[in-house]
Amino acid sequence: MPRTSSPVAGVPRSGIRTLMELALRDPDAIRLEVGEPDATTPEHVIAAAAADARAGHTGYSSSTGIAELREALAAHVTARTGRPTHPDEVVVTHGAMHGLAMALQCALAPGEQVLLPDPEFPNWRMAAVAAGLDVGTYPTRAAHGFVPRVEDVERAIGPRTRAIVVCSPNNPTGAVYPRAVLEGICEVARRHDLWVLSDECYDEFTFDDPHVGLTGLDRDDRVLTFFSFSKTHAMTGWRVGYAVVPDPTVRDLMGHLAEATISCPSTIGQRAALAALTGPQDHVTAARDAYRARRDAAVALLAARGIGCVRPAGAFYLMVDVSSATSDSEAFALRLLAERHVAVAPGATFGDGARGMVRVSLAADRDAVLEGLGRLADQVQAWREAAGPVPAPALAPVLASDAEAPTAV
Ligand SMILES: Cc1ncc(COP(=O)(O)O)c(C=O)c1O
Repeated sequence: MPRTSSPVAGVPRSGIRTLMELALRDPDAIRLEVGEPDATTPEHVIAAAAADARAGHTGYSSSTGIAELREALAAHVTARTGRPTHPDEVVVTHGAMHGLAMALQCALAPGEQVLLPDPEFPNWRMAAVAAGLDVGTYPTRAAHGFVPRVEDVERAIGPRTRAIVVCSPNNPTGAVYPRAVLEGICEVARRHDLWVLSDECYDEFTFDDPHVGLTGLDRDDRVLTFFSFSKTHAMTGWRVGYAVVPDPTVRDLMGHLAEATISCPSTIGQRAALAALTGPQDHVTAARDAYRARRDAAVALLAARGIGCVRPAGAFYLMVDVSSATSDSEAFALRLLAERHVAVAPGATFGDGARGMVRVSLAADRDAVLEGLGRLADQVQAWREAAGPVPAPALAPVLASDAEAPTAV
């Protein structure tokens, strides 16, 4: 019998999925483990997609997307970043993660290295390993609000490093990187001649400061940026994202790879994306306001219960410190689900930088988030009491009402 020799066999399993599958078997579970917006796709988007399907937009499109959508996206990116962007530079993808996975394959060779932030979104590593790449990490620390230090990024670069993944607003940490940090990373990439892969899935969800896109900071076409309709427009199941790829060779290769694998992104999904992009944007503002309000309420609840967290500045995730109860975040998450019916993502699944923490999604319904966090706090308290006197939490509680407070404390 032949045996697989594929690098895909080495793809690690995400701990988020493990918790999700267990939570799906518990009808009473409060689901705070996945990043799924609680809203459904706006009605006008669904109506436009249905009308377009009836009008016959049901065939294949170009492997890099329909021209009308790419034109609208190029205008959108130009307006948002100030960098004139041509429709040819836009590749419509089967979601942002598909774009990033294709870019890794098209820009790097097997055996070369990509650097990820630690904590990391597990799917980046999965895609890199599937492409036969080596994965390195650069640290981002809770004490710095999970914003990387440029010198740490540079220190992580080795002889085989060819690309750096950047994600702001960040999953899993909610960190938003200041412009100076992003400029510093671009400068490091220039000095070492690296690609920068910027995952900007959460570009519409910053709570305190406007989003800074890396496309606007790119001076020599080394930045590839990935966007998604999934979170912005509550369209996770439609599977549409897009990449801005200034390098003509890499974007041509991405087109070839898409042709070889998916033929093209779903045409009806692309029609829906066009409606989402060009129609009213009230749902985006409403979602941002709701996530911000949930962030503030969640941080206040944890502070009142004496539990540390890193106050997120964007996206819709909250890293909660459970290290005063246990250093084993997986055991904590499994027991929280089994005993109190709350599903959260164990920090260990995101890397060393998140050990002793769990990630809570703020994209669930507000009452569910607060009820879930209350039960989480009960669990921490119960474990602390069972273990006897414990050292002070690694992170002091955060006060949401203190507008001047640093992002992380
Ligand atoms: C950082 C990040 N990148 C990519 C994705 C996947 O986005 P899409 O649904 O567009 O593939 C997610 C989804 O959770 C994410 O958090």
